[in-house]
Amino acid sequence: MVLTSRMSHLFYQVCLVASCFVWLVCAADLEKPALVANRDILKPTQASLTPQQIHISLGNSASDVTIMWATRAHDISIVEYHTGDRQNAKRIEGETIKLDTTNEDGAKYLHRVRLLNLSPQTKYFYHVGGETVETLSDQFSFNVPPVMAGNTHTYMVYGDLGTETQDLQFLLQEALNEKYEAVFHVGDIAYDLNRGQGQIGDKFLKQIEKVAARIPYMTVPGDHERYDDFLHYRYRFSMPNLPWPMPADNLWYSFDIGPIHFIMYSTEVFFYDEINIDNMVQWLRNDLEEANQQRSAKPWIIAMGHKPMYCSVDNIGEDCRREKSLVRTSLEDIFYAGGVDLVISGHQHYYERTWPVYKKKAMQYNYNQPNAPVHITIGTLGSVYMPDKSTNVGGQWSAFVLAETGKESFGRLKVFNATHLYWEVRECANNKLVDKLWLIQSFHRPFNIQRVVIPNPLGEMGDKWLAEENDSFGLESFLGLNGSHYGDDYQTKLTVLISVFIICVLGLMARKKVLGFIRICCLKKEPCNKLKSSVHNNAGTNVV
Ligand SMILES: *[C@@H]1O[C@H](CO)[C@@H](O)[C@H](O)[C@H]1NC(C)=O
Ligand SMILES: *[C@@H]1O[C@H](CO)[C@@H](O)[C@H](O)[C@H]1NC(C)=O
Ligand SMILES: *[C@@H]1O[C@H](CO)[C@@H](O)[C@H](O)[C@H]1NC(C)=O
Repeated sequence: MVLTSRMSHLFYQVCLVASCFVWLVCAADLEKPALVANRDILKPTQASLTPQQIHISLGNSASDVTIMWATRAHDISIVEYHTGDRQNAKRIEGETIKLDTTNEDGAKYLHRVRLLNLSPQTKYFYHVGGETVETLSDQFSFNVPPVMAGNTHTYMVYGDLGTETQDLQFLLQEALNEKYEAVFHVGDIAYDLNRGQGQIGDKFLKQIEKVAARIPYMTVPGDHERYDDFLHYRYRFSMPNLPWPMPADNLWYSFDIGPIHFIMYSTEVFFYDEINIDNMVQWLRNDLEEANQQRSAKPWIIAMGHKPMYCSVDNIGEDCRREKSLVRTSLEDIFYAGGVDLVISGHQHYYERTWPVYKKKAMQYNYNQPNAPVHITIGTLGSVYMPDKSTNVGGQWSAFVLAETGKESFGRLKVFNATHLYWEVRECANNKLVDKLWLIQSFHRPFNIQRVVIPNPLGEMGDKWLAEENDSFGLESFLGLNGSHYGDDYQTKLTVLISVFIICVLGLMARKKVLGFIRICCLKKEPCNKLKSSVHNNAGTNVV
């Protein structure tokens, strides 16, 4: 074929346009994958570094706060916090650990930062984040509880809360409205933290973030936390006076807030790792002994564990229903001898309150100066999973039972001062008051020590005397000799001394009248009789 010059010109033009077209398409093709790749690397990375599941707990003391969160990719752990002036925010770095069994796409990297020596009764603001500023979280705030006497302390208490609990939103709003100092979740968390390779745990911690990022969320392990040696529980939470991750053989701890000593124990040692029973029991004994030595400063002892010692649910297979309940036979004597005022549990998906009870006997039918621990079981939030029925209410020790299917409720605990504690239960659906209790105790003490009250002309102060058997009001205890720990109650001493002094002074001032009266009326009967008869006679005469 012969090309004319015109045709070849056209050919070149077509080639030029075609190659331009090809080049444009190729360039576009080259650029497109590059963009996609960029997005792949940058955007999801940022998302995978975004902190989620932020929650806080109290540290070793009430002025320490521990902050935790999770990310999908590895990052360092940074908290920026301040008391209102962000310019002066402090920046503190903590630890990151990997929880390996979380699902592929889940938040495997767990972060913990501890803020120490915060000022009591102060509001703190904080953000959590990592290496870059872009991943810094929203701002949250929390209040450090007061430590001085004279403050009311309010807590929210419940057990057995999962992602399917119906009234979760109500509960979260209530927690924020009431400004609780802490939320206590007494075991069975999320149902279950490890389920779906951790997806349920992630979901639950995201759901409660709105509260748990602002109010210390305190926990004990329940039977639903036991999988893989409590793995998810030990990693996802960090409780006071324990290392992190929490050690599988030490899931119990205690801490103080104001006038309260909280003891958080694991009932699961009796069922899943018997090897740790002795350790925990010994720890409980020591802890209670120490707590009783500081009882005048911290009069209330409140213990919380997942499984109750007393219950009147229908299911006779439950430990609390058994004659030889493992939890009761192992712990009741210790709590009685340790003077625990209140024991709160979950596990059974209903609500029950006992009278002050010891060895299955109610010690009294009121809560005025109880002579034994009072037990409360509040697991109603789990009723959506499997309600517990109670058609045949338990022994004479049972004071109140609420076991209506589908009624979710929570407990509100208020400690007013050294003598007055208030507990109430409210229904989630309508915030209706379901049960309440005033626990009044002015004799906080080991219950196996007899209470001796000496009469006191000035009233109440004298009633606060405690004494060991047969040592009611010995000079020894009064002077504080021989290690008597009641001897250092200076206020009482002072009251007794002042009242004795006042009686002496009054006696001296009135001695003439008193002596005269005794002489006239009692020693010499004659003048008395004469006096009376003469009066009588005179009156009679006048009338006549
Ligand atoms: C303790 O608190 C209760 C309830 O508010 C109150 O009635 C009581 O008087 C208080 N006691 C003392 C000693 O302040
Ligand atoms: C206390 O007194 C009772 C009798 O009143 C006696 O049986 C008991 O042994 C005494 N206890 C002590 C520790 O002395
Ligand atoms: C001190 O108490 C111990 C045990 O309670 C007792 O054996 C001892 O005799 C007491 N000492 C005095 C001086 O009373």
